[in-house]
Amino acid sequence: MKPSIFLLLILALITVSPSSSSLHSLSSPSLLSNSSSDLQQFSINEDGTNAAPAPTAGFTNFSLVLQFSKSLCNFPAYNKKCDKKWKEDLPNRFTIHGLWLNFGRNPKPAPPSPRKDIELSKLLNERVLVNKLYNDWLYAYFVPSGNGPKEVDRKTSVWRFWTHEWDNHGVFSQLSTVDYFRNTDNLFDQLGDIYGQFAQLGLIVKGEINVTQASEVLTRELGVKPLMKCLFNSKGDQLLFEIQVTIRKGDLARLHHSQSPLKGHNCTGHMAGLKI
Ligand SMILES: *[C@@H]1O[C@H](CO)[C@@H](O)[C@H](O)[C@H]1NC(C)=O
Ligand SMILES: *[C@@H]1O[C@H](CO)[C@@H](O)[C@H](O)[C@H]1NC(C)=O
Ligand SMILES: *[C@@H]1O[C@H](CO)[C@@H](O)[C@H](O)[C@H]1NC(C)=O
Ligand SMILES: *[C@@H]1O[C@H](CO)[C@@H](O)[C@H](O)[C@H]1NC(C)=O
Repeated sequence: MKPSIFLLLILALITVSPSSSSLHSLSSPSLLSNSSSDLQQFSINEDGTNAAPAPTAGFTNFSLVLQFSKSLCNFPAYNKKCDKKWKEDLPNRFTIHGLWLNFGRNPKPAPPSPRKDIELSKLLNERVLVNKLYNDWLYAYFVPSGNGPKEVDRKTSVWRFWTHEWDNHGVFSQLSTVDYFRNTDNLFDQLGDIYGQFAQLGLIVKGEINVTQASEVLTRELGVKPLMKCLFNSKGDQLLFEIQVTIRKGDLARLHHSQSPLKGHNCTGHMAGLKI
């Protein structure tokens, strides 16, 4: 990260006041609300202009990628660490990993030049959005540096994560920085509280879930087949850590996933851990 950006981010951490510890309402649109009018609403900006991305060569659909951060904290194979306390603090929810551009078989284009990473600073004016993102788009891995308040450390690390997602995905979207983050958060809100729904339906038993059944439930409730992903931790336990939902570029409608494997998940067998 360039020092100037880093300074801006530090400034952000000071000026964007920490949100109340209450997580944003999870009772908002449930899994069941998938009408196309809902889906299209948030491609329109508040000022009435259409924020749907302009065409980018080869770019077909988005993948909205959600993660279960507590599962990721169990994967030292990634050479990333989680503070023990942070692991406890991670929410019992799927949260945003990113909104990725799915180029299909087309090659990923070169990043726009000049690079637009500096534009992440435009988020700084969006205090309400940023405070919401602290809850919805958090970083799974975090170890405090020990030099200052952990809350500041944690926010610095999440800005690095957002910078990574913007540099690797957002810059290709032809959305402004603010629209990219806002649209991603809106798409996320539309999915409702997936973990809560799994729990409510009794799908999670002793920290395990039948991913085949969970995929069937999600397919019914979202109206499209998502792709669920598992990883093995160092003890050889398989954990569900990711859910991808394909979103059409033009109108942001959901689509069945068409990645390999075509079944609803890439887990081995039916059962996977989903531990809180
Ligand atoms: C998991 O769910 C699938 C699909 O509903 C079912 O066929 C399978 O028997 C279940 N497996 C276990 C171990 O519960
Ligand atoms: C969700 O969308 C699917 C496919 O478009 C449709 O079949 C289903 O009825 C919708 N569900 C609700 C609750 O609107
Ligand atoms: C993505 O978009 C293209 C073109 O619109 C389409 O052919 C493809 O099947 C879509 N679906 C997925 C899941 O990639
Ligand atoms: C599922 O996909 C993830 C991420 O792409 C990969 O790391 C993992 O090994 C896959 N799991 C299985 C069981 O193939």
